[in-house]
Amino acid sequence: MPIHHFFTRGVVFSHRDFVKSLDDVERHFEPGHYTAYLYTGRGPSSGSMHIGHVIPFLLTKYLQDALGLPLVIQITDDEKFLFRDVPFEGQKAEEVISNNIKDIIAFGFNPRTTFIFRNTDYMGEMYKTILPLQRCMTGSSVKNTFGLTDSDNIGKFAFPATQAAPCFSSAFARVLNHSKERPMRCIIPCAIDQDPFFVLTRSAAPRMKRLPPALLHTKFLPALKGLTHKMSSSAEQNGVITLHDTDRQVQKKLRKAFSGGSGTLEEMRTSGANLDVDVAFQFLRFFCPDEALFAHVAQAYGTGGMNSGEVKDLAAETVIKYVMTEWRARREKVTDEDVEHFTSIRNILI
Ligand code: TRP
Repeated sequence: MPIHHFFTRGVVFSHRDFVKSLDDVERHFEPGHYTAYLYTGRGPSSGSMHIGHVIPFLLTKYLQDALGLPLVIQITDDEKFLFRDVPFEGQKAEEVISNNIKDIIAFGFNPRTTFIFRNTDYMGEMYKTILPLQRCMTGSSVKNTFGLTDSDNIGKFAFPATQAAPCFSSAFARVLNHSKERPMRCIIPCAIDQDPFFVLTRSAAPRMKRLPPALLHTKFLPALKGLTHKMSSSAEQNGVITLHDTDRQVQKKLRKAFSGGSGTLEEMRTSGANLDVDVAFQFLRFFCPDEALFAHVAQAYGTGGMNSGEVKDLAAETVIKYVMTEWRARREKVTDEDVEHFTSIRNILI
C-alpha cells in the first residue's frame, strides 16, 4: 500500500515511539498473533462531526488497512458529562451517541477487527486497568497537565486514567484476548490536543511494568476564517463544514474561506497567492490525494496562474469527492444492528 499523503505533507507531524511500534508489528508477526493494536476515540457531540474531526479517523482507517491491526475506539460519554455538562443518559443522549457511533462506523472500519465502546457501558471491564493508573497519577500532575483548579469537580481529576486505560491490552481481556505473557503495543493516531493524556500514561507505564503507547499526532485543519482560528463545532455552524453538509453548502462555505490571494485579480496574477495562509489551498494539502494535481495547484496558484475562486471551488470538489461521497454512501447503510455488532464485547482477533 502506498504511503498516505498525511505523512508526506506534514499532516502527521510528530510521533512518540512510532518507529519502535512498527518494529513490533513487523518483527513479531505471525498469523493469528498480534503484537500491536490501534486505539483512538471521540467525545460524542450533538452536532454532526465536522471535517476537522475526520483526520484522525481517516488516518486510523488507513493504518488499520495498511498494518492489518485490530482497533479499539473509545466513546467518552463520561468526558462530555464531566467537562461540558452533556447528558450521558436519556432518549436524546442515546440518539446522539448512537448517531456518533454510526458516523464513525461509516469511515469503513473492519467490522470483524474493530471494537467500539462507550465508557459508561464498558467501565467494569476496564476498571482493573484504571485502578493502578489512578494510583500512578497524582492530583498535582493532572492539575498541571490539564490546567484544573481545586474548584473543578473530581470527575475531571479521575478522567485521565479512564482515557489512559485502553492504552493497555489488559483493558481488553476478552476483546484482545489479553495475556500477561504476550503484551501488545498500543498505537494511537490522534490530534495533537490529545497528547497530554498520553504523556501522563507513558510516564505511568514503566511503573506499571507495561509497554508505553506509541503515538501519531495530526495537525488541526485550519478554520474557514483562517489559520489563527481552530475549527470548532461549538462555533456557529456556518464557520465549519460538517460531514452532513450538502455539496452546495460545502461549496458556499469554502467560497467564503480566508484567502491568501492578493486584493485584485490583477495583483493575484502578478504576485501569486500566499499558500501558507490560504485556507482552500490548505484543504487541498489535507484532502487531495492526487500528487500531480496538488503540485500543479501549488505551482500555479503560488505564481499567479490560478485565482483564489478557482482554488476554492477545487477545494470544495476535493472534499466532496475524497471525503464525503463514499462516507455518505456508507453512512446511509449503517443500521442499529451494525452499532450493536461493533459495540458487542467479543474477541476481535479471530
Ligand atoms: N478525548 C477525546 C475527545 O475529546 C476522545 C478520546 C478518547 C480519544 N480516547 C481517545 C481521542 C484516544 C484520540 C485517542 O474527543
